[in-house]
Amino acid sequence: MRPDLTTKFAGLTFKNPVTVASGTFGSKDEYAASVDYSKLGAVVTKTVTLQPRQGNPMPRIWETPCGMLNAIGLQNKGVDDFIENKIPYFKKIRTHLIVNIAGESVDDFVALARKLDRVKGVSALELNISCPNVKRGLEFCAKPELAHEVVAAVKGATSLPFFTKLSPEAGDFLGVAEAVIRAGSHALSLINTIRGMAVDIEKRRPQIANVCGGLSGPAIRPIALRFLYEVKRHFEIPVMAMGGIATAQDALEFLITGADLVALGTVNFVHPKATMEVLKGIEAYLKRKGHPSIDDVRGTLQVKSEFENHHVPAG
Ligand SMILES: Cc1cc2nc3c(=O)[nH]c(=O)nc-3n(C[C@H](O)[C@H](O)[C@H](O)COP(=O)(O)O)c2cc1C
Repeated sequence: MRPDLTTKFAGLTFKNPVTVASGTFGSKDEYAASVDYSKLGAVVTKTVTLQPRQGNPMPRIWETPCGMLNAIGLQNKGVDDFIENKIPYFKKIRTHLIVNIAGESVDDFVALARKLDRVKGVSALELNISCPNVKRGLEFCAKPELAHEVVAAVKGATSLPFFTKLSPEAGDFLGVAEAVIRAGSHALSLINTIRGMAVDIEKRRPQIANVCGGLSGPAIRPIALRFLYEVKRHFEIPVMAMGGIATAQDALEFLITGADLVALGTVNFVHPKATMEVLKGIEAYLKRKGHPSIDDVRGTLQVKSEFENHHVPAG
């Protein structure tokens, strides 16, 4: 018998917990030649903004050991184009569509949420309050009060469930998480990229025109896992986890630590079929362990005690 991968929260039923991270899977059919979208638990789109954005100057990506830096800068054609030209494509696909939105002000977020609230085919929103590559990108998740303000405003503007995407760059990460949960976010998305840089030693210039870019890929996986662990230890909130997830082994580490959904990001650029392989690998693991359901595994991390863990001498 096939194990049951069904995942439920915020009034939504996902056929499985495997999805994709915003900005790494296009905004429409870019991956349709490699992936059967209807087999995914959900599709998460690239960030959509109120007005079209050109993004940052090139070069804006740079490969690093075990990952990449990017400073795309939320390039997109704006929400009206998205509603008219992208959403109709997803109506034919039997999976959830999660639309990632970002604004430069609370009013922007509210306007986006209102517009998308009325659009058929959108299952949920993801609020990107943590983009390191645009001027006011990290502002909302820098302080609990600002994060609370934007989330509470969106809550009043839409009946759709929504995830709030946080960044490890937020100084008071748990404070910000607590604030957005209190303001009514149905779930969290953890984590956005972490700022880094690389230098061209011949030209003595940064490899990224914007100087810094967001680091993603396997390099940040242990950090993402740690933030998931911290959040799950402190709060009862569903989490879509991302950060270097590339294989079933990686996905299971996050699921065991308590992730409700696991999103594959950077790996899609090097291995477009990764989501399908992760799905098969999770099923194979459940069968091997004799578990009929993903719920038998989710959040089952065995921790003896934090005190002991912190005081075991290295080596
Ligand atoms: C090229 C690129 C573009 C991205 N664009 C977005 C975006 O538009 N909105 C967003 O919320 N996150 C964006 N992200 C961040 C990812 O969704 C994800 O949070 C991060 O990359 C960590 O996952 P990963 O290590 O599996 O890639 C982008 C990441 C990359 C690499």
